[in-house]
Amino acid sequence: MTTTADELREEVRRRYAESARAVTAGSSECGCGSGSCCGDEPTESNFGEALYDAEQRGELPEAATLASLGCGNPTAVAELREGETVLDLGSGGGIDVILSAKRVGPGGIAYGLDMTDEMLALARQNARDAGVTNTHFLKGVIEEIPLPADSVDVVISNCVINLSVDKPAVLAELARVLRPGGRLGLSDVVAEDRLEPAERAERGSYVGCIAGALSQGEYVAGLEAAGFVDVDVTFTHEVADGIHGAIVKATKPAAASRELPLAGTAKAGCC
Ligand SMILES: C[S@@+](CC[C@H](N)C(=O)[O-])C[C@H]1O[C@@H](n2cnc3c(N)ncnc32)[C@H](O)[C@@H]1O
Repeated sequence: MTTTADELREEVRRRYAESARAVTAGSSECGCGSGSCCGDEPTESNFGEALYDAEQRGELPEAATLASLGCGNPTAVAELREGETVLDLGSGGGIDVILSAKRVGPGGIAYGLDMTDEMLALARQNARDAGVTNTHFLKGVIEEIPLPADSVDVVISNCVINLSVDKPAVLAELARVLRPGGRLGLSDVVAEDRLEPAERAERGSYVGCIAGALSQGEYVAGLEAAGFVDVDVTFTHEVADGIHGAIVKATKPAAASRELPLAGTAKAGCC
């Protein structure tokens, strides 16, 4: 029996709802590095809170670090600046939104987007516990981002795009919501180009962030097709044979420069 895209997405939602409930109940049972959520046989350092340095972990409530299910640290990649608007796709327990909110300061905004109610509730509680007031957690899917075009300076995401059932739609949405000149700083699971989709699926499950991984070449081609420039996909650590945690960077081209004045209208002596 084949699984439809809707069924697969529902399976992902159910799995991460379970994970949020486990953290809310005070257990990290279903977290990456200790179970089945992000990789079927992850080691402690492949996924989750171990990918953040001690200083960053010190800035966070315990439940936010316990809920960390990522495969990298996008806030370390994105070089956030004061006053920027940041969007985290698949924000989970809110770890990267809280860290981003602190980086962009009170003049900036950190949005988290997630489809799982239990994760949104956990993230909102974690943000309150962290004392940050410039966070907004939105319910929705990353294939249809509930924000206007050209409204975000930086998109980050941690171990989520591999879970999408429609990756071209996600990449098109990234290009739509970013302002011209805006940038991506993503962490994701990415396969070596030698692995066919069936070989990726042999190495781990879809909900475990392995089977749905794009290959490095597919990621670059997808981002370029969506209009991004300066695309770079760099492996950071292997999580299964031929499958890696990776940093993905790209930029939305700046708006075309204003047209030159028509001949004869430029001031004498100018240009
Ligand atoms: C592996 S967890 C990562 C959570 C968080 N980024 C972190 O680093 O801890 C995946 C998260 O993405 C959310 N998610 C998965 N697919 C999604 C989709 N298509 N749209 C919105 N959220 C999604 C899940 O609900 C879950 O909270």
